[in-house]
Amino acid sequence: MRIAITCNIKEEVPPHLEECYAEWDDHETIESVKNALLEKHEEVFIVNADRRAPRRLEELRPEMVFNMAEGMGGDSRESFIPAVLELLGIPYTGSSPLTLGLCLNKLRAKQILSCYGIPTPRYFVVEREYRGIKEGLDFPLIVKPIHEGSSKGIRNNSLVRNEEELRERVHTVISTYHQPALVEEYLSGREFTVALLGNEDQIRVLPIVEIDYSTIPEGANPIYSYEAKWVFDRPENPLDIFRCPADLDDELYRTLCQLAVDSFRALGVRDWCRIDIRCDGSGRPHVLELNPLPGILPAPECNSCFPKAARAAGLSFSELVNTVVDIARKRYGI
Ligand SMILES: Nc1ncnc2c1ncn2[C@@H]1O[C@H](COP(=O)(O)OP(=O)(O)O)[C@@H](O)[C@H]1O
Ligand SMILES: [Mg+2]
Repeated sequence: MRIAITCNIKEEVPPHLEECYAEWDDHETIESVKNALLEKHEEVFIVNADRRAPRRLEELRPEMVFNMAEGMGGDSRESFIPAVLELLGIPYTGSSPLTLGLCLNKLRAKQILSCYGIPTPRYFVVEREYRGIKEGLDFPLIVKPIHEGSSKGIRNNSLVRNEEELRERVHTVISTYHQPALVEEYLSGREFTVALLGNEDQIRVLPIVEIDYSTIPEGANPIYSYEAKWVFDRPENPLDIFRCPADLDDELYRTLCQLAVDSFRALGVRDWCRIDIRCDGSGRPHVLELNPLPGILPAPECNSCFPKAARAAGLSFSELVNTVVDIARKRYGI
């Protein structure tokens, strides 16, 4: 097959800009995906997902696209490339523009999950100015930008314990990220991420990853913050933060699998997805968010959840990438 990879390539950036590009993919990741695809397919092209991408895709006319484009900005950024591919009639891996847009907006995703009776933390949204905490909610709370990913805007101080911290953090999120702040009740229990592969009645749950907060530096809040993902954890000094497969009793394992599959279906996800789930203080799991364009850093020391779960299931990085393509091909019947 002639396959194109659509992606936003992260160039070397100065440290103060690193957060802006946290979602984008580095050269090593893209090369690894390319090499994986070349194991099974004769031609693989890399298409940078910028403004020239529509023309390039039209000229190339690949038979399939492996889509990993995070987009150039705005709250529909992940939908751009799939929308172009739909317009051009080119098959691609992963979710539709609609699902990618809904999952990127944490509020919309929560509303849909709630419609299906899937537990998600209680919340309120501050559009512009903080005017008091929603009735029934209490500290501690967590403040997040409404449509970011890769822990952008989720810092150690996003966990707030009083009104002053809350007001301050809401203000910072709105003024820095130019979007509303989502304020959620803080769930203090165990945290998991569940990687799924497949469609319809053939959705495979990969071994569940637990985030082990005993490994983060003393004094840091137990959240998978920007610092935990990108600062405490460096390839040259990896943080041993994942437990995979997580140590779970049968009941919790079944509940997590069911929640993940139900969420996948509720949002109309396709082919693959990683779903973040955290338990409250009494051990009841809630869905935090869905990642229908999951990060896939190839190097094991880079601590990337999806490849980690795949490895635990006996799938190498190459096998993971090619499995996603095979699942998409099956869906299109090609
Ligand atoms: N309501 C919550 N209660 C407890 N921890 C949370 C909550 N929301 C987010 N977190 C923590 O913050 C991390 C990042 O939040 P998440 O919503 O997954 O955003 P991102 O899209 O940046 O991954 C989570 O993995 C979790 O550790
Ligand atoms: Mg997350």
